[in-house]
Amino acid sequence: MDKIKLIIDTDPGIDDAMAIHYACAHAGVELLGLTTIFGNVYTQQATRNALFLKHQAQYGFDVAAGESVPLTIDQNPPSHYVHGDEGFGDLDVPEGALVADDRHAAEYIKDQCEKYPGEVVLCPVGPLTNMAKLVQDFPHIPQLVKRVIIMGGAVWEKGNVTPFAEANIWNDPHAADIVFASDWDIDLIGLDVTQKITCTQSDFDLVAKTSPEIGGFLSDIARFYIRFYHSVLGKEVCVMHDPSAVIALTDRDFFEFEKAPLSVVFSGEEVGRTTISTDAARRPAHVAVNADVAAVKKRFLDICSQADTMAANRKK
Ligand code: BDR
Ligand code: CA
Repeated sequence: MDKIKLIIDTDPGIDDAMAIHYACAHAGVELLGLTTIFGNVYTQQATRNALFLKHQAQYGFDVAAGESVPLTIDQNPPSHYVHGDEGFGDLDVPEGALVADDRHAAEYIKDQCEKYPGEVVLCPVGPLTNMAKLVQDFPHIPQLVKRVIIMGGAVWEKGNVTPFAEANIWNDPHAADIVFASDWDIDLIGLDVTQKITCTQSDFDLVAKTSPEIGGFLSDIARFYIRFYHSVLGKEVCVMHDPSAVIALTDRDFFEFEKAPLSVVFSGEEVGRTTISTDAARRPAHVAVNADVAAVKKRFLDICSQADTMAANRKK
């Protein structure tokens, strides 16, 4: 079977790194590229971190830097308290020898979608600014995209930045609304489902046993992330937001969806909230409402356990 062609738009970020290494270790996925965005860190750090992950995975995917600020609102500070000052917990991230593509993220995505019409899946797991630029600058592209799987939003559940807003939508509400208004096939993997999917330090330590380098790195960065979640949830776990979106690509049948057109609140107490749109012209998105939690978690851990072997095979 043909591999799924994937571009992840990302602000790495601890759970971003988990999602990216999952995609790299999955034999059914061809990761074409990472495009970078601010959110957990600044865009420049996100690009450096994406190149670091590329080196770690020994993978030939491209890295293209995207927007540095939101479309309309003033930029929120990066969430260092969740992901660490450099994005990977307590770790320093060295500048490596690899360099990013010359193209802007939106132009890079446009080129890939034109090269492989109807084949490319986009998986944005950060604020949606690059995706909004893509549809604004290249309005023919949504027709060429196979599917967009977004980690973001909280339609029925409470937010994680305010009682209403999830972080990725909060960081650029106007961009998210442009993406929701576009005519393409959207799966929304939001807090309604991601908060149910958690891992513990021992889960990551087991991955590190079979995959000491990449699994060891995931286990190291998980420690910081679990500390943060312990401070908010009172439990020694971390929430697997971004990996859930990539697992919804490889194993869509693990998830249950409801169809609903979406929009975003721009002002007032509920600013940044993802809601069901009253605009009948909007194409309904598939909003994940439930998941086979044990199956999602097992798939994540099984695939990541093979990460070093997959990287070594690519290096040969
Ligand atoms: C989302 O916000 C970021 O902190 C995470 O990487 C994830 O994409 C969760 O709300
Ligand atoms: Ca993210």
